[in-house]
Amino acid sequence: MSVEVFRTVDEIREMLARVRRMGATVGLVPTMGALHEGHGQLIDAARQETDCVVVSIFVNPLQFDRPEDLERYPRNLDADKKFCDDRGADLIFAPAPASMYAPTHRSFVEVAGVSEGLCGQSRPGHFRGVATVVLKLFHITQPDRAYFGEKDAQQLAVVRRMVRDLNLTVEIMSVRTVRESDGLALSSRNRHLTTAERKVAPILFQALVVAQKLIAAGATDPAEVKSVASTILAQQPSVRVEYLEVVDPDEMRAVTRIRGPVRVAAAVWLGSTRLIDNVLCEPGTAEGSGLIQ
Ligand code: PAJ
Repeated sequence: MSVEVFRTVDEIREMLARVRRMGATVGLVPTMGALHEGHGQLIDAARQETDCVVVSIFVNPLQFDRPEDLERYPRNLDADKKFCDDRGADLIFAPAPASMYAPTHRSFVEVAGVSEGLCGQSRPGHFRGVATVVLKLFHITQPDRAYFGEKDAQQLAVVRRMVRDLNLTVEIMSVRTVRESDGLALSSRNRHLTTAERKVAPILFQALVVAQKLIAAGATDPAEVKSVASTILAQQPSVRVEYLEVVDPDEMRAVTRIRGPVRVAAAVWLGSTRLIDNVLCEPGTAEGSGLIQ
């Protein structure tokens, strides 16, 4: 059966009310479209664990800090619909911006602390936009489970915190980062890279893996880890580092000493394209350093 597309809040609500009346569980995969294998694995996980898989496709204006980024964000509902069909999703919720945000919209969700460092610092208002739209999507679709990628680890931490703080009943599930064979994390923004930039891009992941190995080998000083990773990134003069940080995986705050699991997270610019990535690091596990995520 082919996937059905719903364009309004009322229509998807009505459909999902019918689904729930039949006793089926609902899995939500929130996306901004331009679907790739990273999104595909979220859909697969939802397909395995819930009865009715809803993929939301909405380029959320509220989370873009730069108008040119919003404007050039790729949109192709036909290709996304085919992707969802092939992947076995059941429903697509693809609302028009006007049906998500009335001109009178004045309510926003602020998740303090965890939203403030890393991408929150360089993209003011970004996580407020993410938390607001994700809460709206949760209320509209009332999923049993919702699926997010570890590629956007801070986003995942923000959503988990919001769910805990606001007593939401949805269960948040996370999926490991899907990468190209050279390590570059899949992202809809990768298509903006020039051929030369694409060749250089895997250095981001390479630098993170070196950081991960240093931590696995016992490094406890984040400054030392950051310095080695920065040196690797500096080998490519076309890479501009926005941030490179060793953070606590729940709070997403920089640590002063590495005592337990941390995430090393970075954002870099290649020309006009911004790439982010992160790896989970376990201290003192040099032998078991197949930990890449
Ligand atoms: P988008 O960038 O489309 O990503 C949708 C989901 O796919 C997110 O949970 C993201 O972490 C996951 N994802 C993206 N690339 C991935 C990869 N290479 N491997 C694994 N998962 C990956 O993130 C958003 O949209 C938006 O902020 C959204 C949550 C939909 C709110 O607007």
